[in-house]
Amino acid sequence: MDRFYPLIGILCDGRFHSGEELAAEFNLSRSAIWKQLKQLEQETGLSIDSVRGRGYRIAGGLELLNRESLMAHLEDHHVGCLEMVQILSATASTNDYLLENQESMPVGSGAVCLAEYQSAGKGRRGRPWVSVFGRNVMLSLSWRFQKPLSQLSGLSLAIGAAIAAALKRLGVEELVVKWPNDLHVERRKLAGILIEATGDFDAPSTAVIGLGLNISQRGMGEIDQPWISLSEILPVLPERNLIAATVLGAMIEACKQFDEQGIAGFLGQLEAFDGYRGKQVALDMVNKTVIGRYMGIDNSGGVVIDSEGRKQVFHGGEISFRVNNDEIT
Ligand code: BTN
Repeated sequence: MDRFYPLIGILCDGRFHSGEELAAEFNLSRSAIWKQLKQLEQETGLSIDSVRGRGYRIAGGLELLNRESLMAHLEDHHVGCLEMVQILSATASTNDYLLENQESMPVGSGAVCLAEYQSAGKGRRGRPWVSVFGRNVMLSLSWRFQKPLSQLSGLSLAIGAAIAAALKRLGVEELVVKWPNDLHVERRKLAGILIEATGDFDAPSTAVIGLGLNISQRGMGEIDQPWISLSEILPVLPERNLIAATVLGAMIEACKQFDEQGIAGFLGQLEAFDGYRGKQVALDMVNKTVIGRYMGIDNSGGVVIDSEGRKQVFHGGEISFRVNNDEIT
């Protein structure tokens, strides 16, 4: 994938570039350029326009992630929290990148990894996270908490609420935090959060918090649930580097606040994004499924389900919504 990056770097301006120009630039034949462009399309999911007599282009252009721009959009006090900022053209998974490099990372500070493309992006419950090159935000933040591992439950909700509030500031309306780790708009998934935490039960812990946010996701056959992109919601899309910096800033702030206050500090915000209250749901857990009405989130971050007239709180599992017993998401 890295080998395509220079080619994408030229085509991302959205203008046509002739085969001759590209061949001269890379010291290759025109047919070798053509072959590379075909491979690039196949491997990245990007579509390249090819017009006889004009050349090749990425229609509409592509804004690549850029360190200077990202840092310029972050507030200074958030920049000060980050010891490492890594922007990769491709990696298997940004969460794995941080987990694998944890030993060499500075302790007691934040580290962030963003990638244009993930070849083995991970979702919750072993599902893949699929995304085309350069069109979305895939980022992971590694954060050291003073709280032990046992007190990190509820962190994904806190992060979800903070990201929802940040996206609202960018103009996204009707956002819902779907317990425990999704952001929805119009009952479709806009973003997902995957937290992988390590540490002893009575000592400081480290969490790698991964966020996948659809900005201009394109038809990707493998996604198994309804999804939506910011491009469908906002009339004018902000710069991708600005969106990435906005959500990253919100994640850093949420980590700091969560370490001090736990989930209690986010209950008010969660209430504001609790759009599914009263809906009929199924909560799937490892060995059972509970059917009932979703009644919100309790003050420990658990999900409250009203099943057969009895309210119960659960801390694990996954919710799907039902209409006439047909699963919709
Ligand atoms: C889910 O909704 O199931 C969670 C999706 C999390 C996807 C992000 S993309 C960046 C980070 N790296 C990964 O491999 N996964 C997370």
